[in-house]
Amino acid sequence: MAIESKIVDPYVENYIKSLVPESMGLFHELEHYAERFQVPIIQKEVAQYLKVFLKWVKPKTVLEIGTAIGYSASLFAYEMENGHIDTIELSEGMAEIAAVTFQKLSEMRPDVSVRQWLGDAQEVLPKLENKYDMIFIDAAKGHYQAFLDLCLPRLNTGGVIISDNVLYKGMVATDAYLVKRKITIVKRMRKYLAFISNHPDLETTILPIGDGVAITYKKGGTV
Ligand SMILES: C[S@@+](CC[C@H](N)C(=O)[O-])C[C@H]1O[C@@H](n2cnc3c(N)ncnc32)[C@H](O)[C@@H]1O
Repeated sequence: MAIESKIVDPYVENYIKSLVPESMGLFHELEHYAERFQVPIIQKEVAQYLKVFLKWVKPKTVLEIGTAIGYSASLFAYEMENGHIDTIELSEGMAEIAAVTFQKLSEMRPDVSVRQWLGDAQEVLPKLENKYDMIFIDAAKGHYQAFLDLCLPRLNTGGVIISDNVLYKGMVATDAYLVKRKITIVKRMRKYLAFISNHPDLETTILPIGDGVAITYKKGGTV
């Protein structure tokens, strides 16, 4: 089905999507579930980007904010082969579905441990003691800055934060697509992108794939 992100021309977006190979097994199953029950999971070209990214960066410790049904965390685990993932989810119902996903995943990737945390990330993050090579932010878009402030001390120097949906249906880059009820989220996202793009201890690039993805490298310094 052709969809429009309002981020790049639809013909480019659909062409790139058409080149992504079909998923198999657990991933195929989760994609079907997400489509049927309208669960927002990472888009297929973002999943493909992350697969390449994980092969290349080889993180051993990952933190995810926004588990949903466990699709992206499974993708990370599958590519990592060994290591640890902490993943935070606010909804109990989602976390229960994700627990079934991670049970299936453990048969494929017994050397990756996944720990689920239930609750608002702003309350869970201060409890975490691990340090991470990669942090994936994919939850309430209006709270990315608050998540970042709590996450940054937990990110290793040389580690990366990936923030999904940062161009939010084209609304962040132009008021032409802005809908009134999203003004607060969009204003906050613009401030967030300005922050991660200009912070002296961070280096950020924004990719116009899916709903927009920001990749932020931690150089060190005080953060
Ligand atoms: C876009 S979905 C995550 C999709 C998942 N990362 C994937 O691609 O498979 C966002 C999830 O974040 C959860 N969420 C929203 N606000 C949150 C918060 N403050 N703390 C933790 N999770 C939150 C939602 O319940 C939802 O399941």
